[in-house]
Amino acid sequence: MELDIDDLTPRERSRIVKSAVTPRPIAWISTVDEEGADNLAPFSSYNYVSSSRPVVLFNSPTGDAGGLKDTARNALVTGEFAVNVVTEPHLEQMDHTSAPVPANESEFDLASVRRAECRRIDAPRVADAAVTMECTLYDSISIHDRLMVLGVVQYFHVAAEVLTDDEIDMTKLETVGRLGGPYYTVATPGTFKRRF
Ligand SMILES: Cc1cc2nc3c(=O)[nH]c(=O)nc-3n(C[C@H](O)[C@H](O)[C@H](O)COP(=O)(O)O)c2cc1C
Repeated sequence: MELDIDDLTPRERSRIVKSAVTPRPIAWISTVDEEGADNLAPFSSYNYVSSSRPVVLFNSPTGDAGGLKDTARNALVTGEFAVNVVTEPHLEQMDHTSAPVPANESEFDLASVRRAECRRIDAPRVADAAVTMECTLYDSISIHDRLMVLGVVQYFHVAAEVLTDDEIDMTKLETVGRLGGPYYTVATPGTFKRRF
């Protein structure tokens, strides 16, 4: 199939991009609003930008009529968010937290996710996450109908179970990724290893 972008509907373009850019990592993002109501939701339009001075990004629709999603709004208003890494035991709970619920209803409670306090920010984190990165807002950039939110990582929490000799061991970290359509995948390192 050969497809010129100009011949495709927005939905068709979106389907192809979301199937081609796979598997995508999932940021399970916890935030808090000005009133202290916490929020938790998954974002797979997510990655890191720099690593030695780590900056991560996620993006969300600007939602002209309905406004921003709670996560993006809270990150902008409070200047803080935490990225929790999703591993296989949390797959169903993570999916549950994508349900559209009113801003004053917590997805932590909805999906029975245990909270813990962060060290450097007021947002809660997922207590049982294998890795959490506490972030402060770096910047936000509008791109077409999306808002890209960038955060500077200020603090890492890493569970002992995923460590070998004090480093994260990818054979112990069963990261969940998102595929096209309704599908997820779980990372298991292959036998072929990077050579260069
Ligand atoms: C695996 C997964 C990945 C998602 N990725 C995104 C994303 O990158 N951007 C986005 O706007 N919504 C994404 N969503 C949908 C949001 O999680 C959903 O709209 C959620 O209700 C937003 O919650 P909030 O309003 O509390 O922020 C994703 C959902 C799932 C299940």
